[in-house]
Amino acid sequence: MNNTDIFSFNSSFLFGSAVSSFQVEQAADQPHSDWGRHVRDQYYEIVRPGEKGPQWIEWANAKRDIQTMHELGLGMQRISLEWARIESAKGHFDHAAISYYKQLIESLQQAGLEPMATLHHFTLPQWVAQNGGWQNTRTVDHFLHYVKRMVHELPDVKFWVIVNEPGVQLPFGYLNGYFPPRKRSAIRFLLARHNMLSAHKKAYQLIKQSKPAAQAGSAFSCLWLRPDDPLSRIERLGTYLGNYLLNTNYIAACQNESDFIGINYYMGYYFDFKLSSSHQTFRQDSSTVPANIPFIGTTVRPHSFRSDFGWPVVPDFFYSVLHNVYTSYKKPIYITENGIADRDDTYRGMYILTHLIAMQRAIREGCDIRGYAHWSTIDNLEWNEGYSKRFGLIKLNPVTGRRKTQHSAFLYSEIAKSRTINIDYLMKKYIRPELHPICNRIIKDLLECRTVRGMRLQYGR
Ligand code: BGC
Repeated sequence: MNNTDIFSFNSSFLFGSAVSSFQVEQAADQPHSDWGRHVRDQYYEIVRPGEKGPQWIEWANAKRDIQTMHELGLGMQRISLEWARIESAKGHFDHAAISYYKQLIESLQQAGLEPMATLHHFTLPQWVAQNGGWQNTRTVDHFLHYVKRMVHELPDVKFWVIVNEPGVQLPFGYLNGYFPPRKRSAIRFLLARHNMLSAHKKAYQLIKQSKPAAQAGSAFSCLWLRPDDPLSRIERLGTYLGNYLLNTNYIAACQNESDFIGINYYMGYYFDFKLSSSHQTFRQDSSTVPANIPFIGTTVRPHSFRSDFGWPVVPDFFYSVLHNVYTSYKKPIYITENGIADRDDTYRGMYILTHLIAMQRAIREGCDIRGYAHWSTIDNLEWNEGYSKRFGLIKLNPVTGRRKTQHSAFLYSEIAKSRTINIDYLMKKYIRPELHPICNRIIKDLLECRTVRGMRLQYGR
């Protein structure tokens, strides 16, 4: 590497971080939400005794974390509004809850952080859930009623994310029963999918009618696949179908009612149609772990690693997602989530550096990417995993509430403040020497890849 490896971002690019209300507020004590009940019913499995999380429900905690993001030099904050707190019973809007979000948005603006507000991030009011949740067509009307009120109450919000990750919430809620309402039925899934996507479209129209200058879209999960062997037709077809079913069918359905596409990217897999995969995965400790998904080999190349979740960290797939989504839909992109579960903050710096380089490459090649929100601002309730998986730029002791800004957050801060990625400098200052070979290799592959042809794009082979 040398000094030519300095990339810059234009002055309007937004660097930020993201949270969702349920994950940071007071997850174990929200009787009015389906997820609150889910956590309570499984309390000792999801949340351990004494764990309270970031407690943004107490204003001082939210304010403190916002201040940290401001000091890090960020310019955007993705939050979400907790419908269950705002409208805890049908038609009953809670003034205290609405004032809380007004205050939150005001504080963000005062701190120079552009608020991006998500209207639905996995959780539903219990009264909506009890009436069938997204399976019930009437939920669309209830949602629109709430959206209308929010747009009216929060006129300063310019960026609205209507729904977070239909591609996670719907299959987890209706196909494998991992999330509330814990159903396993293809018919319910299809009904819920239809209603949720129609809610997206109608909410978009509603937002634009009342606030034409606002920017609205949804955030889509992109667990990306690539063919292991780009010459294999069956692997290319499998990859296409896999990406369609997991990711792009939702984006395609919402594209006409979107000012931007929100991308949540964490990981990627090679699609490998071989009965017994010989692929091995390189772990941080140099041991090898066999691929664990039949047919879909987790063909992580020798210079890749995994998060605490076991998710393969492959920044070049991030580039593929951005390139593919931009060339397919030609809409501005905001990265609404990207991050790593890394309790000890060992790899987060490298994760941020390499993913921002991948994103920068997509920008240089013409993709209209306007902002990046790192997931997450602070360690929070990772859904069914409780506080065991840590994504935060701020490290949190979930019992005492003590906070400490992670070392990796300062790497991100240097990039956000300087609007450049000075690879040599950042590596020396923030990345552990023993990780330099792997980091150099990832970056070299990211910079050297010359072929830009959708799924045939391959790195480091
Ligand atoms: C969700 C977040 C979650 C993150 C990490 C995304 O699917 O939107 O709420 O915490 O992934 O798992």
